[in-house]
Amino acid sequence: MTPRKTRILTGITTSGTPHLGNYTGAIRPAVAASRAPDAESFYFLADLHALVKVQDPARVQRSTLEIAATWLACGLDPGEVWFYRQSDIPEITELTWMLTCVAGKGILNRAHAYKAAVDRNRADGEDDDAGINAGLFMYPVLMSADILLFNADKVPVGRDQIQHIEMARDFGQRFNHLYGGPAGKQYFRLPEVVIEENVATLPGLDGRKMSKSYDNTIPLFAPRATLRKLIASIVTDSRAPGEPKDADASNVFQLYRAFAGVDETAAMRREFEQGIGWGDAKQQLFERIDSEVAPLRERYETLMAEPHKIERLLRDGAQRLRERHATPLLRELRAAVGLRDLSQAAGGKRKAAAKAATPQFKQYREGDGRFHFKLVDADGALLLQGPGFESAREAGQLVARLRQGAGAGLRAESGAVWLDDEAVGELADGVALEDVTAALSGFADGDA
Ligand code: TRP
Repeated sequence: MTPRKTRILTGITTSGTPHLGNYTGAIRPAVAASRAPDAESFYFLADLHALVKVQDPARVQRSTLEIAATWLACGLDPGEVWFYRQSDIPEITELTWMLTCVAGKGILNRAHAYKAAVDRNRADGEDDDAGINAGLFMYPVLMSADILLFNADKVPVGRDQIQHIEMARDFGQRFNHLYGGPAGKQYFRLPEVVIEENVATLPGLDGRKMSKSYDNTIPLFAPRATLRKLIASIVTDSRAPGEPKDADASNVFQLYRAFAGVDETAAMRREFEQGIGWGDAKQQLFERIDSEVAPLRERYETLMAEPHKIERLLRDGAQRLRERHATPLLRELRAAVGLRDLSQAAGGKRKAAAKAATPQFKQYREGDGRFHFKLVDADGALLLQGPGFESAREAGQLVARLRQGAGAGLRAESGAVWLDDEAVGELADGVALEDVTAALSGFADGDA
C-alpha cells in the first residue's frame, strides 16, 4: 500500500470554558502541529465523554460551542484537518460496543479515574460504587473507540491520559488477535501517546496548576477588563517594590514566560532581580497576554455570534469523515465479528443476484457549491474521493477520462491519486491503488 501521513488525533471533553492553561498546554501546540505537512490531524469535541460528568444539557451545549469557536479562533483550519463532534459519528458508539466485548473488566477496574472515585467512597465509609455511573467505568473504552476507529498513530494528551492510551492499545491488540484470522489481519493500528515535554503546566490564580477543578482559572477569552482584574488577583509573596524577587518561584513569571519570547523572558527575569513591584509585573503580564489573545478574542466573538456556521462546519466534517474512514472500516469490522449478511452463510443455497453489482461513479454537488465525484465499489463502499470542480462539466470530463483509461497511468502517493500530473482524488481508508485500478478496469469491459 502507498505510504500515508502520520495521523495525529486528540479529543477535547466539552465540559467547560477554555482557559489560558488549555491554550498554552493544548490548543496552541496542537494548532501549530496541525500545520505540519506530513501530518493528517483529527481534532474532535468529545461531547459523549462530557456526559459522564456533566448532566446539565445547556452546559454541554454551551461548552461544545465555546470549545469549537475557540479552536477555530486560534487558527485551526477545518479545510486542512478533520474537525468534528464525536456524537456526529455513530460508528464511534458502535465500535465502543465491539471493544466493550473484548475489553477485560479487570483492566477497567484499575483505571485511575474510576479507582479514585472508589477510594473516595471508601474514605467516606460508603459503598464502593456509590454514586458512580457506569459511564465513568466505561470511559476508557469510548476513548479507545475514538482513537482506534481512525487508526491514529499519535495521540497528544496530558499525563493523566497515558493510561487510557495504553488501554486503547490493549483493546486494539485483543481485537486484532481475536478476529485477525489465520492471516493475522491487523484491523487496528496501535496508537502511541505523545506528551508535550516542553510545554510547562500553567499555574492558576492560587499557584496550583490551572484547572477547572481547582476553580483557579483565567478564561482564555475573558473580556479585557476581566482579564486585567483576574491577573491582578494572582497570589504573590509580600515583597515590596525594590526588593529582589525570585522569578522561578513566582506564578506571575511562569505565566509571563508561557507567552513571551526568549529575550522578553530574560528581560523580565532581570526586572525581578532588580525588584520590580508586583503591580508593575502584573501590568506587563496583562499587556503581554492581551497582545497575543486580543486578535483571537475578536475572531472568537465573531464566531460565537454565528453558531449556525459552526454547526454546519462540524456536520460537514463528520459527514466527510464518516464516508472516508468510519463507514468503510465499520463495514469491515461488522463482518469480522460475525455481524454478517445471512444470505452469504456457508451451507445456504444462494439466490442468484438479479444483476451483478458493479463499481460506480457518483457525481454530486456539495454545500460549498462545487461539483464532486466519487468511485464506489460494488457494495457502495468508497474507493476514491475526487476533488471539487467549478462546473459539473469539468467533473464529468475527468470521470470520462478515468473510465476510458481503465486505470492506466494512475499512481498514488501518500493516499493521493494522480493521472499524469493531475490530482484525481484520494484513496479511502484501507483502499490500495490496485483496488481502484481493478474497479476501473471493469468499465473498459463495457459492463458499467
Ligand atoms: N479523555 C480526554 C481528556 O479528558 C479527552 C478525550 C476523549 C480524548 N477522547 C479522546 C483524548 C481520544 C485523546 C484521544 O483529556
